[in-house]
Order: sequence, then C-alpha cells, then structure tokens
Amino acid sequence: MLSAADNELLTRTGPGTPMGDYFRRYWLPVALSREVAAPDGPPLRVTVMQERLLLFRDTRGRVGLVEGRCPHRGADLFFGRNEDCGLRCVYHGWKFDVDGKCLETPNVPAKTAEHMNVSIKAYPVQEFGDMVWAYLGPDGPPAGVPELEVGLVPPAHRYVTKKLQQCNWAQSFEGALDTAHFSFLHMPAPSVKSNVNPLAQADEKRLAWMRNDPQPRFHFFDHEAGFMIGASRKADGNDLYWRSTQYMLPSHSTTPSTLPGETYFGYSWVPITDHECWIYTYGWNPVRPLTDEEVAKFKAGWGQMPEIGPDFVPLRNRGNDYLIDREDQKYRTFTGVRGVTEQDAMISESQGLIYDRTRETLTATDAGVVRFRRIILGEAKALQQGHEPAAPQHPQAYTRRSGGYMAPGDVPFEEAMRQRFGDAGGRATPEAQATAAAPMPAAPGRA
Ligand code: FES
Ligand SMILES: [Fe+2]
Repeated sequence: MLSAADNELLTRTGPGTPMGDYFRRYWLPVALSREVAAPDGPPLRVTVMQERLLLFRDTRGRVGLVEGRCPHRGADLFFGRNEDCGLRCVYHGWKFDVDGKCLETPNVPAKTAEHMNVSIKAYPVQEFGDMVWAYLGPDGPPAGVPELEVGLVPPAHRYVTKKLQQCNWAQSFEGALDTAHFSFLHMPAPSVKSNVNPLAQADEKRLAWMRNDPQPRFHFFDHEAGFMIGASRKADGNDLYWRSTQYMLPSHSTTPSTLPGETYFGYSWVPITDHECWIYTYGWNPVRPLTDEEVAKFKAGWGQMPEIGPDFVPLRNRGNDYLIDREDQKYRTFTGVRGVTEQDAMISESQGLIYDRTRETLTATDAGVVRFRRIILGEAKALQQGHEPAAPQHPQAYTRRSGGYMAPGDVPFEEAMRQRFGDAGGRATPEAQATAAAPMPAAPGRA
C-alpha cells in the first residue's frame, strides 16, 4: 500500500513532476526506427511524458526530435516539408535542422535575420536496437543509451515492436515484476486435461509446476542497473523451478520463461501521458538469427507480442473488452482472453487509468512490486534533494538476461542464477557466457 502522496509521485511524469524529472535523467525509447524509416519522410508526432514533439529523419539520415511549434507565429511543423536537411514550416518557409537550429527565414530581409537568433527546442537522439532513444533531461545526456542486449546483437537476431497500453505506466510495469500471477492469469482453465492441451510436453510440465505452487518464494539480487528477481516454485521431487526477471531503472524489464538456448524477451515502458504508455517490446536470440517462422509468429501476435493494427494498438483492447469469450473461459483458458500480453493488458487497464494504491492489500508474492516502488520512489525523492541517479552513468550494466532454470532445492538463488547465466545478476558478458548453462534440448512448439 502507498500513501496518496507517494502514489502521485510514482505515477506522474509530466514536466516538472518529481518522477518526470527522474525519468528525464535517462535515455528513453521514443519511437521505433522504422516509424521514421525514410530520409525526408513524413515527420512523426511523438508524445513523451506529456511533451508533444516531432520526430523526423533528414536527407542525410539523421534523426531529430524537436518541438513541433514554429517560433514565427506558432504553426504546427507536423504539416511542414521535410526537405534538404531540414523541416520547413509551410506558413512562411522558416526551416529548422535536427538540432533545432533555424537555417532559413525567407520572409525576413537578410540584415534583420542576422540579429534574430531563433531556434526550436531539440533533444539529443540516438538509434539503438531499432529504436530511437532520446534524452529529455538537463545538462547534456548521460554516458550513452542503456546497452540492452537486444541492441548489441546483429539486426537479424532481434525483433522489435511496441504496443499501446491504456493506463498509467507504473501499474503496467508492476505486472512484469509480479511473476506470481502466471499461476492464474496465463493458465489453461482448471478443467483442461493435459492430453487436450496443445502445448508441448516440456511446457506442460512447467505449467503444472506453476499451477500447483501458486505461492512462489521471492529472492532479490541488487545490481548497478536495478535488481534481479527470482521466484522459485516446487517442481518434481526436491527440485525448484526458478523464474527470474530483471528490473532495470527506470522502466525496463526482461521476461522469466526463457530456458538456456531459447529466445529472450524484454520490454521498456515509456509514458505518453499519465493515462497511456508505450511498451517497447523485443525478442532477441544471442546465438542465432531469428527464423522466418519466429518473426512471422511475433508479427501475428505471440507471447509478449500482441496482435496489433498498423497504429500499434492491440486488436483485443479495452474498447472491445479484449474480445473475452466466456465459453473459452469456462472450458479452455483461465481468462477467456486470447494472448498472454492481452491478458496482462486487460488486468493492468482494469486497475484504472491510474491505479489507487492506497486501497490495496499486499501479500508475500508482491515482494517484487514493493521493492520496485521503494527503489524508484527513493531515487526520485533523492533527486529532489539534489542527488543525481547513478544508473544512467552505467550503460554497460544493462546488458542482462533473465529466464527459467531448474535446480536442486538446496541451491540458493544466487548460485542458481550463476549456474544459469554465468553471473548471479544475469550479466550477459562474454566471461559470463563461458560458464553459463548449456542450451537445453529444444522443446517443440516454443520459440
Ligand atoms: S509560422 Fe512558421 S514560418 Fe511563419
Ligand atoms: Fe503476465
């Protein structure tokens, strides 16, 4: 449970709010690179933490994130001409480059223009992992974009997309850290017998462990970018089935199911307003290109990739009750809603536009959520006292994985993660790879 004041602090990210100031200390994704693919292509409207901006790629391929308002008489540069290394206002022809510098004011005599000194606000931008990242904070950007592994692998090894979530960023993000909910939300209906479940046998086993142990024990490992969460469930005999997740400041996470050798998944939350956010969602395989079959599956909607329209809005969404099918809910799936990420979205959005955390009843399996709140609220409050966050200065600390692992019951969390990843905090360094668990035999039916 949070106080009303802390709930406000956690959820509000507009300019001048404490959490908004905190988020603005980080590089954040603001678009997919393919949304502004073509040089001199149409500018893209982008709203980040309530700031309405324009993104465009100039003739030389450089990307600019600028204020969309012309400083002459306020025309919207969205309607401008993207031409010859700049965005030209169509009202009187003033032109601006990717750094916001005014290049031409053709309706002004040259002698007057010399003294005018006009520009538009522009933010630093970098492309990494097929995403456009921007720094919206003060004092120049920190060291570099967080080196998520998805951006370090060759392009053919990854698939990157985004999805709209119609609620506050924080409650959606908390869903990723609450790995206990898999025992319910993503399960087949209790009446489903194993021989009619279409999933492969290995998955069937894991589903059974999750269903049979709905009270996973949570463990944490702190690192420079945030912390790693491990949730252990009873498996066969004395074994534990571990599912680990990364929390990386301020709003990145990786998913808990991946077994050694399988494709990894992660996501980054970026508030649009306090009532909507983008979830940049990616899958990557460190050792091989993704197959055409995998990519086709991700495009069609699979796991964390929703079935989306051309505007990145999930087809099953709040507006149509996620196409819940009550027959399905009775006989086939726990929710009656198709798709893991759609199930997640339904629940996060059902908590309200901004979830009221003064009215909740937390239990032991909410430990990841509680820790996340404590850390980010502490960091945002510290920033208000003048203490800059450390994580933005350590972009390499973001190269991390998470996933599933089986270990005997007497193996502690850190040791289990060391065996699984070669590093207790899931670092994906070459040294860690040398001692990480070998790929498991492929389970049919999984990516
Ligand atoms: S309003 Fe843009 S050039 Fe006049
Ligand atoms: Fe989920």
